[in-house]
Amino acid sequence: MNKFLITALFPALLLACAVDAPPVYKERDAPIEARVEDLLARMTVEEKVMQTVQRTYGKNMNPNNVERETRAVDPLTGSLIYRSPSPAYRNRVQREAVERSRLGIPLLFGFDVIHGFRVIFPVPLAQSCSWNVDLVRASCAVAAREAKLSGVDWTFSPMIDVARDARWGRVVEGYGEDPHANAVYGAAAVRGYQGDDLAGDHSIAACLKHYVGYSLSDGGRDYHYSDVSPQALWETFMPPYEAGVRAGAATVMSAFNDISGVPASANPYTLTTVLKQRWGHDGFVVSDWGSIQNLVPQGVAADEREACLQAFTAGVEMDMVDDIYARHLPALVEEGRVSIARLDEAVRRVLRVKFRLGLFDRPYVEELPDDERFLRPGDVALARRLAVESMVLLENKDDLLPLAAGAARRLAVIGPLARDSVALLGSWAGHGEASDACSLLDGLRARFGGEVTHARGCDHDGEDTTGFAAARRVASRADVVVLCLGERAAWSGENASRASLALPAIQERLAAEVRRAGKPVVLVVSAGRPLDLARVAPLAGAVVMIWQPGIEGGRALADILSGDENPSGRLSITFPRGAAQQPAYYNQRQPARPGSGGYQDLPAGPLYPFAHGLSYTRYEYGEIALSSDRVTRDGTITASVEVRNAGDRPGDETVFWFVSDPVASISRPVKELKHFEKRGIPAGGTRRYTFEIVPSRDLSFPGPDGLRRLEPGVFHLRVKDRVATFSLVD
Ligand code: BGC
Repeated sequence: MNKFLITALFPALLLACAVDAPPVYKERDAPIEARVEDLLARMTVEEKVMQTVQRTYGKNMNPNNVERETRAVDPLTGSLIYRSPSPAYRNRVQREAVERSRLGIPLLFGFDVIHGFRVIFPVPLAQSCSWNVDLVRASCAVAAREAKLSGVDWTFSPMIDVARDARWGRVVEGYGEDPHANAVYGAAAVRGYQGDDLAGDHSIAACLKHYVGYSLSDGGRDYHYSDVSPQALWETFMPPYEAGVRAGAATVMSAFNDISGVPASANPYTLTTVLKQRWGHDGFVVSDWGSIQNLVPQGVAADEREACLQAFTAGVEMDMVDDIYARHLPALVEEGRVSIARLDEAVRRVLRVKFRLGLFDRPYVEELPDDERFLRPGDVALARRLAVESMVLLENKDDLLPLAAGAARRLAVIGPLARDSVALLGSWAGHGEASDACSLLDGLRARFGGEVTHARGCDHDGEDTTGFAAARRVASRADVVVLCLGERAAWSGENASRASLALPAIQERLAAEVRRAGKPVVLVVSAGRPLDLARVAPLAGAVVMIWQPGIEGGRALADILSGDENPSGRLSITFPRGAAQQPAYYNQRQPARPGSGGYQDLPAGPLYPFAHGLSYTRYEYGEIALSSDRVTRDGTITASVEVRNAGDRPGDETVFWFVSDPVASISRPVKELKHFEKRGIPAGGTRRYTFEIVPSRDLSFPGPDGLRRLEPGVFHLRVKDRVATFSLVD
């Protein structure tokens, strides 16, 4: 064939190929970016806009987000919040999108899988007290598997809002008060959900939320103004998000709050300049529920169309349930106020995540029976392990615990939390069922046998004291009282702030009443936040904070009380002496007059500090050893400390490494956690823990522009009460 003929025939050949070959976006082996661009080029404006729309499907279980149950699904919709555990339903709805829409773009099914799907693990705040990052990651992988096999592709988790005000109900959903801890756990959660490959059979997409500054809501009230200074933004709230993006989080959720006046859901600086341009996030941002409409009451948008324009151009690519993008984007594009380029960029991001999840190639999920999806023994065992490691022994006077160590004990299990399995699940309990949960009473009965008696004593709140007499009677016949107090599940979580951190008065009175029986009391506290235990802790010999420990809570408590397990949890959040002492986080900036300026009517210092937690053994720390007392900007120092288990039972000890920078160009916190490590130590054994200090990472701090400064000078490294000093030199 001569050259002329080839040239003449080429377009025809191409066309012939085009007729037979599937479009590039349907080719499994084509690069994802090529598939995205090919699909984008085929889409109408309406089809594009619909990819930015998220609606709901199934009955809403969240009392804060009430809307009509959706029955008919527009097959062009980008995403659904999917509230059914049934893979068959999902496949049915998905079939509508894949088979009945012109281009067959699959739907993305999202759901709040926060601390488990059906196997409910401890709430995230509890998980963070385990300091066992591998367990946290593994729990997210279990949740992802159960969710994926039930038709969910995407979870709105992890929440990595550094939370320092225990009045805020959502303190329960994150990993405590420390930025480094939230960064480490958040990245682990992302890896757990997403696995090694987002398209894996058991992987779901993660969503970092709520970006950013939400936990600073004024006074701990939900949905309120938050005065986030540029310094606080970068120093406290951004680090976990940056770590989550680096870990590969597929998506991010924009928050309800504002950042010193500019709402997080209409903030071009955080959403575009930082997230996408500086950090290179190439997935998409979904608004929080209604946070685009909220721009109107927040007073930055006159109406919904304005809100649409602001959120979309700032960098929110998907509208969670407001339907504002569906209603207003087409006209804004038509008028030229939203460019086609911006619309394409938004849709490109959504499609990219769908391709990465493998939705175009495998839009349906296998329909396995419940028992092949849920509550597998290994997964339940993991829930028990994580619950054991999350529980924090706050007090243990005269070694009251463990109970099995002494003579046989008759236990009286008293209190409104003893049989409250719902409370053990906590808020955002996915498709968890109270009937799956082992109550505290059942767990203790199973471990301690027929010696266990029970009286409820009183309700969680109210004024009914008629159960007190029975409680006292049961207590007086026992050797030890296990008093189970705390919060109902609904007292923490979204829109569940509390002005007081105390137990309700009726529960404090029950504690006093039971104490009168004269028996040793083990106080077991279940709650979604730190509580003010200043009045009840002194009534008890031992205090165990079990948080909301999930379905294995009862068995895990029995493991701890019996001594089958040695407690190893440490607080990831400070316990203040009441709400008046808020905020009480450990890493406050250095004060002008150290040791002065407290309240006249409260002792200084918190009730239980960050990292507090006892064990049944005793650890002895050696001195900190440094490989050098000087380091250059590009050098490193290796620090190590030897820890000896001086008791007679094995234990897991977490070493926390804090850095202090006493003099810098801006005042630095008293100390900051830079590294932590949990390791097992046999009885009588020693372990050397190490921390490699990398100056650019561990000694620098961000300025108000987010860029890190590294200033030469003296630094202190602290582990428990040990201190070592070294210098950073030019
Ligand atoms: C919450 C989010 C949640 C969303 C969807 C909102 O009200 O703030 O955390 O992911 O609802 O349920």
